[in-house]
Amino acid sequence: MNASKTVIMGITGGIAAYKSADLVSRLYKVGTRVHVIMTPNAMQFIAPLTFRTLSGNPVLIDSFQEDSRWRVQHIGLAEEADLMVISPATANIIAKMAHGLADDLLSTVVLATRAPILVVPSMNTNMYNNPIVQDNLGRLRDRGFHILEPAEGELACGVTGKGRLPEVDEIYSKITELLFPRRDYEGKVVLITSGPTQEAMDPVRYLTNRSTGKMGLALAQEVINRGGDVILITGPTHLSPPAGACVVPVTSAREMYDEVLRHYPQCDIVIGAAAVADYRPKAYSGQKVKKKEGDLVIELARNPDILAELGKKKGNHILVGFAAETEDLLVNAQAKMDKKNLDVLIANDVTQEGAGFGSDTNIVTIMARDSEPLPLPQMLKGQLAAVILDKIAGLF
Ligand code: CTP
Repeated sequence: MNASKTVIMGITGGIAAYKSADLVSRLYKVGTRVHVIMTPNAMQFIAPLTFRTLSGNPVLIDSFQEDSRWRVQHIGLAEEADLMVISPATANIIAKMAHGLADDLLSTVVLATRAPILVVPSMNTNMYNNPIVQDNLGRLRDRGFHILEPAEGELACGVTGKGRLPEVDEIYSKITELLFPRRDYEGKVVLITSGPTQEAMDPVRYLTNRSTGKMGLALAQEVINRGGDVILITGPTHLSPPAGACVVPVTSAREMYDEVLRHYPQCDIVIGAAAVADYRPKAYSGQKVKKKEGDLVIELARNPDILAELGKKKGNHILVGFAAETEDLLVNAQAKMDKKNLDVLIANDVTQEGAGFGSDTNIVTIMARDSEPLPLPQMLKGQLAAVILDKIAGLF
């Protein structure tokens, strides 16, 4: 879900190199594009195949066999990166970076990138405390490098002191902070409904719709990236929720309604991204309905309208809805916004190619009280999530 972000992980030759495997795996799992560059010394501690498998990308290793053209090709990576992380960083790479040396791929990319660089030193205590290393770290700090202080503890060489690689959790949260510097949702609890609902008719059959939950999950990820808490009430979907969301799985519209009302008092904002089935089979048959001669007529009963219900007890909540329309987009959307007492409505013409259910992109118009409708071009759902949250943040 962090598909918009690219991280270059530089691994140098320290005993803590193996810990970076966990880091790469975590970044990859949340959808970050990760490119690993290893120094030849790093390969003495951990095999490149580990990082290739965990990052889903070939590992770049510079050695004397490679000619300078190969290096130039990979400098393109430096342009793509949103963040560069050197973990573990040895005294050697720290010295090279502090003095602008570029004698291998990793140090060359460090010089070529304009992305922020996080350095995570790890070495023997005496080496770390050596004034030369401290001077070099000071130079890097002065140049805007981010340095994560090593932890204290027993080191691989048997000495106790400062020099251990910090816990992976700590490195991961520093990376998140650098990748997503905006924290405008800190302290806000956002309840998001997502995905389709399933309305059972008998133990084997149900009514549903084409929603996959992509938009709801993109919104959840973006809220988390910006420091907020998410309660994700989701209908059945095969997609994984973002790490850090409080996930409440439901099946039917009535279950979703109950869970939303239960969590409503704890939240500040509700975004109704679910495609809630408006009707359910009136009678549920405990046994499989058997086939008979002639047609079958299924009577449907109305489901509760979740957002409309919240609109009646709005209080200080900010309420946001989507409108899936196939005709008269703005007129129908405005009517929905008024009827459900919403603050923001994302109007979606689902007949357009590249919009709506299942697609990775969407084409919408954002409507809000007291402002003109804002038509947006086709964009990835992750990008749209960011624009929607900007609009909501304007109402805080
Ligand atoms: N919604 C809801 N509960 C329902 C139906 C819809 O909370 N029972 C929410 C959706 O999550 C969405 C908004 O209301 O944010 C509008 O959904 P949409 O399906 O476009 O509209 P409906 O209100 O169902 O109206 P219609 O189907 O007639 O267009």
